[in-house]
This record gives sequence, C-alpha cells and structure tokens, in this order.
Amino acid sequence: MSLETVVILAAGEGTRMKSSTPKVLHSISGRTLVGHVLHAVDSLSAKQVRVVVGAGREQVESHIADIAPHAVTVFQEKRGGTGHATQLALEGLTPKGTILILAGDTPMLTSASLSQLLEHHASGGFVASVMTAEHPDPTGYGRIIRGDDDLLVRIVEERDADEIEREIIEVNSGVYAFDAAKLAGAIGKLKADNSQGELYLTDVIEILRNEGGKISAVLIEDFIEILGVNDRVQLAESAALLRDRINEDLMRAGVTIVDPLSTWVDSTASVEKDVVLMPGTSIGGRTTIASGAVIGPRTSLQDCTVGTGARVLESHCTEAIIGDSVNVGPFTFLRPGTKLLTGSKAGAYVEMKNATLGEGSKVPHLSYVGDAVIGEGSNIGAATIFVNYDGVEKHYTVVGDHVRIGSDSMLVAPVTIGDGAYTAAGSVITEDVPAGAMGVGRAKQRNVIGWVLRKRPGTKSAEAASRHSSDEQKG
Ligand code: UD1
Ligand code: CA
Repeated sequence: MSLETVVILAAGEGTRMKSSTPKVLHSISGRTLVGHVLHAVDSLSAKQVRVVVGAGREQVESHIADIAPHAVTVFQEKRGGTGHATQLALEGLTPKGTILILAGDTPMLTSASLSQLLEHHASGGFVASVMTAEHPDPTGYGRIIRGDDDLLVRIVEERDADEIEREIIEVNSGVYAFDAAKLAGAIGKLKADNSQGELYLTDVIEILRNEGGKISAVLIEDFIEILGVNDRVQLAESAALLRDRINEDLMRAGVTIVDPLSTWVDSTASVEKDVVLMPGTSIGGRTTIASGAVIGPRTSLQDCTVGTGARVLESHCTEAIIGDSVNVGPFTFLRPGTKLLTGSKAGAYVEMKNATLGEGSKVPHLSYVGDAVIGEGSNIGAATIFVNYDGVEKHYTVVGDHVRIGSDSMLVAPVTIGDGAYTAAGSVITEDVPAGAMGVGRAKQRNVIGWVLRKRPGTKSAEAASRHSSDEQKG
C-alpha cells in the first residue's frame, strides 16, 4: 500500500518547556522530538512529507533540512489551531490517496503502530481513521465518542467536554489517516466555535460523519506510544520510557545490561549480541559496539566504533575508533580522531585526540597523545606528553614500530622517532631520533657529596646521613 502524504504539525510554541530552544528540537535518546517522528514515518515511504513549522522557524527548518532533506516545511505564522495548521499544509497540494497527519511532539510512536493504522484504514473503506489509546489519566486529551456501530462519531476536547465525556479513557492520539480528497473538502468548513477560539482538526471528524463517511477509531495496545512532550517533566518521562524500550529490545537480542535503569543507549546506536554494558553507561549517537565487548561501569561513548572483545572501563570517548581486543581505561579520555588498532591499549589517566595507536602498542599510564601516529608494538612510558601545541599552531609527531619511549618523555612536535628507537626517561625530545638510536634529552646527573650535613645540620636527614662513613660524606 502506498502512502501519498504525511503532515507533521510542529508549529506550536511549547511555552511550557520554558526554553529558548523550540520544543520539537529538544532531544531524547539521540534524536530531537521531531526527529523521532520523522524517523517513525520514514519506513512508510510516503511520496511527500510536509512539516508545519512556526515557533523558532529558522532553527526548526534548518534541522529538518539536515535530518530529512526530502521533507517540505510550511510556515504557520500565528497559532490558529491544529485545523488551521492542516489547512496551510494542504495548500497547493493535489489531494489524492491517503494522508497521514500527526504531531511533532510524540517521540514514542512506532512505525509498527502507524502501519497498523494505515492498514486498518485501507481495509475498511473509511474516510478517516484515528489512532486511539486507553490512557489511565486522560486529562488534557480529546475524548473518543464511539457510536453504537463502534465507529467514531466525534472527538471532544477536554475543555469542551461535559462531565460524562470526561470519564472516557479512550483518547485521541493526534494521529490520523484521511482520504485526502475528503479531508480537503471538509477542512474549509471548520469553525472556531470552541473554548480556545481555534480551528480544531478534530472537528473534521463530525463534519465527515455528517456527510455519511465511515470513520474508525483504531485502538492501539500501549498508550505510552501516544505520549506527547509538553514540559521538561514529560521530556524526562519519555526519555526514561524510551530507555526502557531500547534496553528491553537489546536484552532480548542478546546484550547483557547489568543495570538497565542506569544504562542509556540512544536509539541511533547499535550494540551486537554478547556485549556487556555495566552500570552507569551511556552509548550515544552513531556508536556501534561489536560482539564480546565489555563497556563500563560509568562510561560514555559518543559516536564511537568499538571492536570485538574490546574492554572500555570508566572512560569517556567521543568520535573514537576502538579496535578489536583493545583495552581502554580506567579514567581515559578519548577525543575525536583517536584510532586504537587491534590489541592496543590506552590505559589509566590517558588523554588522546587525533592520534593513531598501532597494533599491540600501549600507552599504559598518565599520558597525553595528541596529533600523532604511533606504529605497531611500541610502548609509550608512563607520563609521556606529546607536546603538540606551540601556543599558536598544532604540530604532528610520528613514532615508528617497536619504539620504547622512556617514562616522562616530552616529545616536542614536529618530531619523528624512528623504528626500534628508544628515548631515555625524563627526556625532552626536540629533534628526530633515528631508527635504532637512543634519544637522550636531559642534563647529566651530578651528586653534591656531603651537601645535607653541611646545609641541613641537625635535621633527621642529616642524622640518617651521618650514620654512613665520613669517606662517603666527602666522596
Ligand atoms: C491535540 C488534539 C487532542 C489530542 C491531542 C493528542 C486537537 C484540537 N486536539 O490536543 O484531541 O488528544 O492533540 O496529543 O487537535 N500545532 C500547530 N499549529 C497550531 C496548533 C498546534 O502546528 O496552530 C501543532 C503543535 O505543535 C502540536 C500539535 O499540533 O505538535 C498538537 O497541538 P497541541 O496544541 O499540542 O494539541 P493538544 O491540545 O495536545
Ligand atoms: Ca499536545
């Protein structure tokens, strides 16, 4: 079944968010609210998608151009109600086939339920079909009034409902499938004779019914899907529900999640089976994690690639590639452009950015590695710093294969350390070290014999030193 048009209503101000960001651009689970809706409609392959924008127009338009370049935006300058927004969306549109209308602030909707609505709509010769759900607390929603034939008679808004109607727990989700031609014929007949003085899209139902059209109410199983986000409390609630849904799907697909409540995986991320996610872990953006990896506790991965059997412990990584069997952490900070090849290690208190660590190479402790490429089988001694910044520009360091960098070396870029070379511990390396050489860049040690007895007499150090022969003290 082919779907002709999708209209997403997203012009509302979202005043209750109390935000300088338009409501539909707030994010949960790695997508904006409108991004979730666009994603859900994506698999329906509609011929065209129109999004009605208003509040924060420029921001919303540029976001939509980014994530859904095929979608067309329609501008609603002043809030006139969902009916008015729909009128604008239909302008210049040849009404044919089925049109799906939904709101931009319902991130929990699944494409499965949208398909269910569309299939039902197509199967029964309906002029319109409305997705409904039974909500334990229907406050604020339009109520569904069914006729004796079980078909939909009308939708009454909370504000306009009487006491008996308010008792109804079957509510309007704000998702509708319409026969486009019938909708186009009825939409002009709306009147703003309601408590809000707006044109209600919901009033189209009664108009179509009075014209003899059959309208169905399609009850979906889980009311969670229709939850809208109107304030930050609902934003957090929806985020938690989405987290639970994603975690459940992952666990059923073979991922171990030790503490689902503290584990946040974006809907845009992908995690293979037999991955273990430890407590307090966030997997964000386009991150992918291959089978057998163990992540966390207390780790965040944003837009990272993690290979088979890798171990990332107590670390924060952004746009990093962590290869197969790589070890990261604890307390490691991997910034964009970090590439850890197979079997390598970025250990405790190591920060890396724009740097490649070759196969089996190790940076085990307390180091900064920036703007560098390190070959295979090399070891970077504890507390080594890649000195990449001269105060104005960044420079590059090249370290060859099977190199041994002594602890506390400063590699002042631009500099190259050849294959198999060593540097002496504590060196400041400002010149290239050729293959196989030992680079020593530090002052030769001298001992000032007897200094403590002469300069610190009467101290515990002097007392300890005086137990040794006077020959030793004189040198
Ligand atoms: C609407 C429905 C209600 C339903 C509920 C489901 C109407 C009259 N009522 O109520 O039956 O239970 O959704 O969540 O439709 N919008 C515009 N332009 C406007 C007004 C709204 O684009 O002039 C957009 C909003 O940005 C929002 C959507 O339409 O995304 C729904 O509007 P909202 O004001 O939230 O409607 P509700 O009062 O929630
Ligand atoms: Ca709403």
